[in-house]
Amino acid sequence: MPKPPVQLAHFIILENYFAPIDFSQIFSQEQPLEIDLGCGDGKFVLEMGAHYPERNFLAIERLLGRAKKVARKAEQLGLTNLKVLRIESNYLLEWLIPAQSVSRIHLLCPDPWPKKRHHKNRLLQTEFLDTLAQVMHPEQGEFIFKTDSDEYFAWGRDLFEAHAKWQWSLLDTQKDLVFYPQTDFELQWLSQGLTLDALIAKPH
Ligand SMILES: C[S@@+](CC[C@H](N)C(=O)[O-])C[C@H]1O[C@@H](n2cnc3c(N)ncnc32)[C@H](O)[C@@H]1O
Repeated sequence: MPKPPVQLAHFIILENYFAPIDFSQIFSQEQPLEIDLGCGDGKFVLEMGAHYPERNFLAIERLLGRAKKVARKAEQLGLTNLKVLRIESNYLLEWLIPAQSVSRIHLLCPDPWPKKRHHKNRLLQTEFLDTLAQVMHPEQGEFIFKTDSDEYFAWGRDLFEAHAKWQWSLLDTQKDLVFYPQTDFELQWLSQGLTLDALIAKPH
């Protein structure tokens, strides 16, 4: 007989994938929301969730196995402020996140799509910055982008520079932020002698 599916309290399945999420139905406490786009194996967002119980964290991942793994770890750690949603980041931001509802969004070590013909697959695009500006809290909203790819970093910086709704600055996540854990991919790149660049952007 087939085994029944394992229910994971931290792995969200939405009732409606065509309407903005009601976060009061998802988190037990109403508190500032941070989103980690492409959380991978989740080291960063799990550590953030444990460190900041006064904030809610939504971990986004399109690969089912990774998303469930992060949900299982959140459950083991007893993190009531962290939920995982398996979904594509663009779709999430465009259709499911209510306007002006997010305090921070993290895009850490995203796939750089280095070949020119694949640049269209990069998450950072002008339209993506338009959508980001809509979901960000107007006063507290911050977007953090970190990558080991010089070329993708320059691409992202130029997009923010050219965009009327954003101002950006360089960021040293280890020095400028009080607590900002390194991600699994970051540690891998650092161990190979690579360096990473980061920026922080705020809507205005
Ligand atoms: C290079 S890994 C980085 C993972 C993690 N942020 C880290 O730094 O360790 C990129 C992750 O983003 C996920 N991903 C890529 N594009 C995505 C998208 N459009 N929406 C959601 N997840 C995505 C991939 O499946 C992968 O787990």
